[in-house]
Amino acid sequence: MRILLAGGAGYIGSHVAVALLDVGHDVLVVDDYSNSTPASLDRVERITGRSIDVVEADLADLPASRAELSGERFDAVIHLAGLKAVGESVTEPSRYYRTNLSSTLNLLDIMREHAVSKLVFSSSATVYSPAAEGVENLDESQPSGLGITNPYGWTKAMNEQIIRDVQRSRPGLQAALLRYFNPIGAHPSGLIGEDPAGIPNNLLPYVAQVAIGRRDRLAVFGDQYPTPDGTGVRDYIHVMDLAEGHLAALQHLEPGVDTFNLGTGEGHSVLDVVRMFSDASGKDIPYEIVAPRPGDVARAVADPSKARKRLGWQATRSFAEACQDAWRWQSQNPGGYPI
Ligand code: NAD
Ligand code: WQD
Repeated sequence: MRILLAGGAGYIGSHVAVALLDVGHDVLVVDDYSNSTPASLDRVERITGRSIDVVEADLADLPASRAELSGERFDAVIHLAGLKAVGESVTEPSRYYRTNLSSTLNLLDIMREHAVSKLVFSSSATVYSPAAEGVENLDESQPSGLGITNPYGWTKAMNEQIIRDVQRSRPGLQAALLRYFNPIGAHPSGLIGEDPAGIPNNLLPYVAQVAIGRRDRLAVFGDQYPTPDGTGVRDYIHVMDLAEGHLAALQHLEPGVDTFNLGTGEGHSVLDVVRMFSDASGKDIPYEIVAPRPGDVARAVADPSKARKRLGWQATRSFAEACQDAWRWQSQNPGGYPI
């Protein structure tokens, strides 16, 4: 198939591009480079020995995107484009709602105009409501949409609803909503990886920058949670496992909308991450405990069994491997991609 990969120059998108090209699909990336650079796609071409077609367009701008894509043929869409910084979404809610919702609405229109019915969408574990007492790992039947604490999370829940409603009006549409847990790591080549602009919001890139000496110490957000060591527990999934989950979802699409967790089913605490990254890098990771970050939950771990049963997919790479691959990327590219 020729896949339209929206947001394909970004962290996850570049790894999805490798997974698609490696099994013989063709890739057409649409990206506005608002949070990425074309260098990531050059690297994808180096890794795979294949070439990628690229269209530079802001998907929130329907006339521009429509014009740029008018002569293009594609068989399916994987939609990863959007803004993703939780804190920024609180200070700039309009920009987040406008970009993230318009991009999805516009892509759905463009799909109809091109008679394309296959869609894989990047959702997030952030759509789940805080787990009720006694619930350990989250499966897809857990309540979502209530208790979301930031506009970014709401855009994911709203995009899920938009896709469900559009599917009802267009029964041929086949969509998979993939709820990612915490993607980490990098392609084992060390050529592509996560390259956040400014101060990283997420734990792994922050820890990696401490290890490389770009930041002094990690601030650990709280150590009084009801978890084994008191720090927050998350389900960290290797980004190549996540990328392969998109392939599986694409292969198993059927009319309707289905939701899948992409996670490992295992939880690791902030201090586990510090220790594992320290082992992987051979560096000390100084840290201090600070106040909890508003909106954080104690624990968010997937029950990934639906994806295993229905998509034949499960994560195969270990947490240690993810930290080693993240370190290879960070140490080979201490300043990220060349500008
Ligand atoms: P990223 O910022 O690296 O990638 C997103 C890409 O979309 C970037 O290349 C950016 O330039 C592009 N983009 C943004 N707005 C656009 C627009 N209007 N038009 C065209 N391109 C646009 O982020 P990522 O970590 O690779 O995340 C990919 C997707 O997965 C996002 O939708 C994100 O919300 C979702 N997600 C990410 C995580 C995570 O922890 N990284 C977790 C769950 C869900
Ligand atoms: C992980 C753990 C923090 C940074 C976020 C989004 C979510 C999804 C993934 C897109 C938590 C702790 C972190 C630091 C710390 N993104 N931490 N010091 O919060 O699980 O999820 O990214 O959809 O929507 O909310 O990930 O990497 O920010 O935090 O102690 O400097 O690390 O408190 O326990 P999170 P994270």
